Amino acid sequence: MLIRALTLFRRAVPASRFCPCATGRTQQYCTSAKNISIRDALTSLDTGSNIRIRGWVRSVRSQKNHLFLHVSDGSSLQPLQVIANSDLNIRGLTFGCAVDITGSLEKSPSQKQKVELQAQRVEVVGECDPVDFPFKIKERHSLEYIRQFPHLRCRTNSFGSLLRIRSEAAAAIHSYFRDNGFVQIHTPIITSNDCEGAGELFQVEVKNPHFFSVPAYLTVSGQLHLEVMAGAFPAVYTFGPTFRAENSQSRRHLAEFYMAEAEISFIESLEDLMKVMEDLFKTSTEHLLSQCAEDMGLFHKFISPGQREKVDLIISYTEAIDILSRNSEQFTFKTEWGCDLQTEHEKFLVKHCGNVPVFVTDYPYDLKPFYARDNQDQPRHTAAAVDLLVPGVGELCGGSLREERLELLKTRLARYLQLRQFGSVPHGGFGMGFERYLQCVLGVKNIKDTIPFARSSRSCLL
Ligand code: 4AD
Repeated sequence: MLIRALTLFRRAVPASRFCPCATGRTQQYCTSAKNISIRDALTSLDTGSNIRIRGWVRSVRSQKNHLFLHVSDGSSLQPLQVIANSDLNIRGLTFGCAVDITGSLEKSPSQKQKVELQAQRVEVVGECDPVDFPFKIKERHSLEYIRQFPHLRCRTNSFGSLLRIRSEAAAAIHSYFRDNGFVQIHTPIITSNDCEGAGELFQVEVKNPHFFSVPAYLTVSGQLHLEVMAGAFPAVYTFGPTFRAENSQSRRHLAEFYMAEAEISFIESLEDLMKVMEDLFKTSTEHLLSQCAEDMGLFHKFISPGQREKVDLIISYTEAIDILSRNSEQFTFKTEWGCDLQTEHEKFLVKHCGNVPVFVTDYPYDLKPFYARDNQDQPRHTAAAVDLLVPGVGELCGGSLREERLELLKTRLARYLQLRQFGSVPHGGFGMGFERYLQCVLGVKNIKDTIPFARSSRSCLL
């Protein structure tokens, strides 16, 4: 059945798409020219081989009898130089058009690239009017400018690099958790809980009012579902989309963002939790620096030297307030023990500590959600909660030990209590905003420039 389906599919290929290599095969099945990504072509040692590439033209230059093209296909920052004879008479070949090229991969005489493609055939698959196209050849467009074109900005060098890094960073986060024995849990997107209790929920509208028997929302955090699973597995994580209806136009808030969250059982101190937060941050960043060196290089000048160093600075909230109060003239928002830290305070603390990531621990009990573990201290009542603050961004991760003591929770919540009735153990967890992580390692100022399609209040959706 499958073979028959494949045969039918072969016949369905338009007969006009024959490969010019004289084998008589359609381009799709031509075996003489090997389909290859530009990334692979650039590192190939197989000079003299017949290859086929498909991509978008980044520059066209005409010289005597030759055309010089730079072609990109999203697989690498560096384009492949293609040299075509002017006789080929290629119609519609402009900056931005899509091309399908076969030719011979040759050693390049230039210092700028190791190989180049001597084209035998250049076909323009999709034309592009360079006058209407919002990006111009040889111009460096700012991130603000390209943000106006969410449907086209993936064609620019900077956003192309960002997307490759984002993809690799997601893989690095999964690898970190897998290599350290965490079980991935697909926590639900539709839920009835407001985990953070901040009321920033998107309500799910259902045509049939009886579809769910309770109001449903898009998740603000997978934490409570992870806590369920932490009752059977020592270490679990989730990494998926999270939604917050915060009416914020800030450069570090999105309405839809990705969060990596971990929950670890049998831990009793914030230090155990901070070790995982630090490891996750450092391992993922080292991975990016080694695997995406070229793309990271594009952002490199923004990367703070501190980012690569050990995150071993830990200060308590009380110490943080002392530091901030001594510098109160620098802030719009005044600080006193019990107040929430604003972005300006977080950024100041990072700078004050030498522009390296800093853990701030033991926040006032009343500032943290119901699940944070009570330190039962006096006279300043605190919770065993920790935030990781990083250069340029402020808060990157938020976490806490969870209140596992039934009696202490009883006064606070009903359903959460059942989790504590049956085999409850000390545990803790944290969440790391993925876009803020990318902002931090790349030095990108606006969070909207770290996600393929940004959603925030008052934004138009694509
Ligand atoms: O500090 P938050 O609210 O913590 C939680 O949601 C916990 N339930 C996580 C847990 O313990 N499992 O959010 C965690 C992180 C923040 O530190 C920040 O990096 C990111 O999520 N974040 C946002 N990122 C972009 N846009 C927003 N609106 C964000 N809100 C939080």
